[in-house]
Amino acid sequence: MCGIVGILGSKPVAEDLVDALRRLEYRGYDSAGIATVENGHLDRRRAEGKLKNLELKLSEQPLKGRAGIGHTRWATHGRPIERNAHPHMNDRVAVVHNGIIENFQELRDELTAKGYEFETETDTETILHLVTDYLNQGCRPVEAAHKALQRLSGAFALGLIFAGHDDLMIGARRGPPLAIGHGKNEMYLGSDAIALAPFTDAITYLEDGDWVVITRSGAQIYDTAGNPVERPIVRSVASSLLVDKGNYRHFMAKEIHEQPEVISHTLAHYLDMATGKVVFPDLGVDLAKISRITMSACGTAYYAGLVGKYWLERYARIPVDIDVASEFRYREAPMPEGGLAIFISQSGETADTLASLRYCKAQGQKIASVVNVRTSTIARESHAILPTLAGPEIGVASTKAFTCQLSVLACLAIAAGRARGTLSEADEKELVRALTEVPRHVNTILRSEPMYETLAHSLQKAKDVLYLGRGQNFPIALEGALKLKEISYIHAEGYAAGELKHGPIALIDENVPVVVVAPEDDLFEKTVSNMQEVAARGGQIILISNAPASKAGCKLHTHLQMPDAHPFTNPLLYAVPVQLIAYHTAVAMGTDVDQPRNLAKSVTVE
Ligand code: AGP
Repeated sequence: MCGIVGILGSKPVAEDLVDALRRLEYRGYDSAGIATVENGHLDRRRAEGKLKNLELKLSEQPLKGRAGIGHTRWATHGRPIERNAHPHMNDRVAVVHNGIIENFQELRDELTAKGYEFETETDTETILHLVTDYLNQGCRPVEAAHKALQRLSGAFALGLIFAGHDDLMIGARRGPPLAIGHGKNEMYLGSDAIALAPFTDAITYLEDGDWVVITRSGAQIYDTAGNPVERPIVRSVASSLLVDKGNYRHFMAKEIHEQPEVISHTLAHYLDMATGKVVFPDLGVDLAKISRITMSACGTAYYAGLVGKYWLERYARIPVDIDVASEFRYREAPMPEGGLAIFISQSGETADTLASLRYCKAQGQKIASVVNVRTSTIARESHAILPTLAGPEIGVASTKAFTCQLSVLACLAIAAGRARGTLSEADEKELVRALTEVPRHVNTILRSEPMYETLAHSLQKAKDVLYLGRGQNFPIALEGALKLKEISYIHAEGYAAGELKHGPIALIDENVPVVVVAPEDDLFEKTVSNMQEVAARGGQIILISNAPASKAGCKLHTHLQMPDAHPFTNPLLYAVPVQLIAYHTAVAMGTDVDQPRNLAKSVTVE
């Protein structure tokens, strides 16, 4: 979950390295640093905390040099302090690293015994001393790097530069993504195409196990064994991904408000609005015949999959086995013959989700991925890509990607229902029509945003918040709790409303706000009973419903009025209020909404 970048430039590179790191901050921002080669000497600047601290240091102590590497860190080994910040460097080599070196302790012990002194708590410093040791044995930089790579185990992407070589950069990928950028007499290395977008759109994505020797005249890629391999140069659309906040205070606010548009774009990719039919890509399996669908994802993406389970089981009568990827990848779940496995991921780089994909692939499953980045590793390892057209999502808390994931899964449920004969043509038209009304309903909800700002002022005092939901809206309660805790740092928990009496009701008193996600559907009356149980114990109920407050049958702290809509689409609509509750509560509390503490946008390590 770190961002790495490297430039062999035709002019001093420090400013461009920082510019690239700014676009990589979504991958982590505990600390940042750059190193350059100037007249054969290595030098570096590092700073704890946000990138602006590094920029300040560079303004006071500029770095020269036309070759350099940079890093923005999400700490895995070692506290997020300057001493542990990358690049790690000595007088011979500098290294930046994303991922985890699993055998770092064994290597550290070996190198310590050889007399190398470690000054940090990081696994990355092991790479530094290992490469240096091979240099000290007389190896040339390329050979030293290759030998060191063969000793490392774990998942990592890394960049190296060397003293005395200002036209050499070495990169390696084993797990987390790494791309090469091709410029005019300049060459680049980066965690993704977004980082390199201002410099070039000519990108080569390294495959797992590749390593590369880069000079200003080009790049030679090798496989793990050291055999030269060819990888295509593709034109990246990343230049269009250079996003800013527009007139919003935060990326998260912008992305919440982009939902009507991006949900429309995503639905249009899978629906024929004219005929009212779903036009779904071939997944390589016969949806009429498969016995089960397996799903796996993490965090918010997992909650999207949970909603998808309700839809697929209800409308297509397909059993769905879904689990969080960090559990699924180790469960060794038995797989049906010729089954379909679906992986949901905004970034397409989440390590646990990728590992689960690889397990299912090895078990002979057809792999489909619902991703927001079509060039991501998860996408490139899938048989079928189901894109969400959310555009780049910069806010660490996922919002528009979530509702676009739901949009894709809703279309899949209809397509599967039609293939299995559980939905008639008239049913299909009804559900497709309901989907086409979602953007308008979301706009209606966004127009009531002032209600959420008011609510936030009381929520910000809470220590614990409970979210309740039933049926297909239960995952929205889970998502609401995640949104609140990850950006406001208030503890929140999502629960199936029917489970309240099996324990959580013990939490309820006048200090515990209870957010109830309850459209007026076939389970509404059951949830009314739960609300009355809460009210009887002084709980502060915040009801999100299209039903009028009078139907709650109890006193409400707040009633967030929702538009009437087809029950099928409620999860898409009710995602927006829980996003707004979290956003405005975090704003009221003054937390860093777009880059909350301890988090990163893409979790590319276990
Ligand atoms: C969502 O708000 C969180 N940032 C996090 O749970 C995220 O959904 C999860 O890490 C999965 O990321 P992915 O969709 O990129 O795989």
